[in-house]
Amino acid sequence: MMTIAIIGSGAMGSGIAQVVAMAGNKVLLYDTNEAALGRAEKNLLSTLDKLASKGKISNAQATECAQNISYVGSIAGLAQAQLVIEAIVEDLAVKQEVFGNIEAVVAKDCVLASNTSSLSIASIAAACEVPERVIGIHFFNPAPLMALVEIIPAVQTREGLADEVKDWVSSWGKLAVITKDTPGFIVNRVARPYYSEAIRIMEEGMASCATIDAAMVGLGGFRMGPFALMDFIGHDVNYRVTESVFTAFFFDPRYKPSLSQKRLYEAGYLGRKTGRGFYNYAEGAEQPIADTDVALQQKILNRILVMLINEAADALFLNIATAADLETAMTKGVNYPKGLLAWAEELGWANVLQQLDELYNYYHEDRYRASGYIRNKIAVG
Ligand SMILES: NC(=O)c1ccc[n+]([C@@H]2O[C@H](COP(=O)([O-])OP(=O)(O)OC[C@H]3O[C@@H](n4cnc5c(N)ncnc54)[C@H](O)[C@@H]3O)[C@@H](O)[C@H]2O)c1
Repeated sequence: MMTIAIIGSGAMGSGIAQVVAMAGNKVLLYDTNEAALGRAEKNLLSTLDKLASKGKISNAQATECAQNISYVGSIAGLAQAQLVIEAIVEDLAVKQEVFGNIEAVVAKDCVLASNTSSLSIASIAAACEVPERVIGIHFFNPAPLMALVEIIPAVQTREGLADEVKDWVSSWGKLAVITKDTPGFIVNRVARPYYSEAIRIMEEGMASCATIDAAMVGLGGFRMGPFALMDFIGHDVNYRVTESVFTAFFFDPRYKPSLSQKRLYEAGYLGRKTGRGFYNYAEGAEQPIADTDVALQQKILNRILVMLINEAADALFLNIATAADLETAMTKGVNYPKGLLAWAEELGWANVLQQLDELYNYYHEDRYRASGYIRNKIAVG
């Protein structure tokens, strides 16, 4: 069992605290904001109570988990940590400063991890005296419920640390995948077309949000359609992730954000949480009806699916992760009904390439360029 310090007791930090404490580790939960720390304690205790009363965990487990967590108001209190997981605001300068302060109090062999979604681990490690011990450990929200964790070694990270961290993450009951330190890591990169191609289809007037959602859920087997999902995630979060991945990829048109979504974000129509996004959630609001034309729905599913497959294939082509980790990430991280590479095998790679080339030939946009992985695959049979 380890002593794990968690910096930041917000949505992610408190969720991660619950995960690692439940696995029997000692947790030092630290936040500069006393009120946030108090809220985290109250929420964690109430969550454990609820889990115990529903029979999901025993009373003894709830008590042990609660006892494993100490709430720490000063960074000096983190000296015993063997691993630090930082989950504070998504701001590079602030993170770099905090990593510097942590290094001053922990032992030389303490591993320092960031839960960042969009910053490079290399840029965080660069602020450290011992950058070899810095790594990304990226949980999904809510951490206690989401099975997947992405592990991201930076260029500075010492050889072998990613595998050690993978063992720790597995011992917390999570599925760990290892990915390169590139924008969006695996999930937030490969999933982009699920949103952007769906919006593009809607913007072109080919189909409504309701029809596209119906195609992806009814024919594709996805848990939520792209528009319902974006409304659920919130356009503030989802739009900003798209914009940051696009910027970080030097404005590669494949990741181009959509103006329709930007306008919703600007208008404050953030989705479910504000009562309005692509859909209207006001009580009694009329809900749009999907077009049941199967041929149209199939065309929609095919177009979004080949774009997703292209993204997964390209991630493999560029050695972002192994094929197995790519499949695990998309099926466990965002609950896709099948791994995208397996799906491509089923459809036939030649068929996928033909559809991508048709889109490319029609639009003459770089967005639709097929990955070299697919062309190689066809070339070698
Ligand atoms: N929310 C998500 O869906 C999600 C998912 C994966 C990763 N992340 C990443 O996790 C991190 C945290 O996100 P969140 O949603 O939990 O944020 P949050 O705003 O809910 O919590 C951040 C907490 O950090 C504390 N904090 C800020 N500066 C601090 C400092 N210098 N020292 C100590 N504590 C400090 C704040 O008081 C706050 O309690 C970000 O890097 C984010 O990109 C978020």
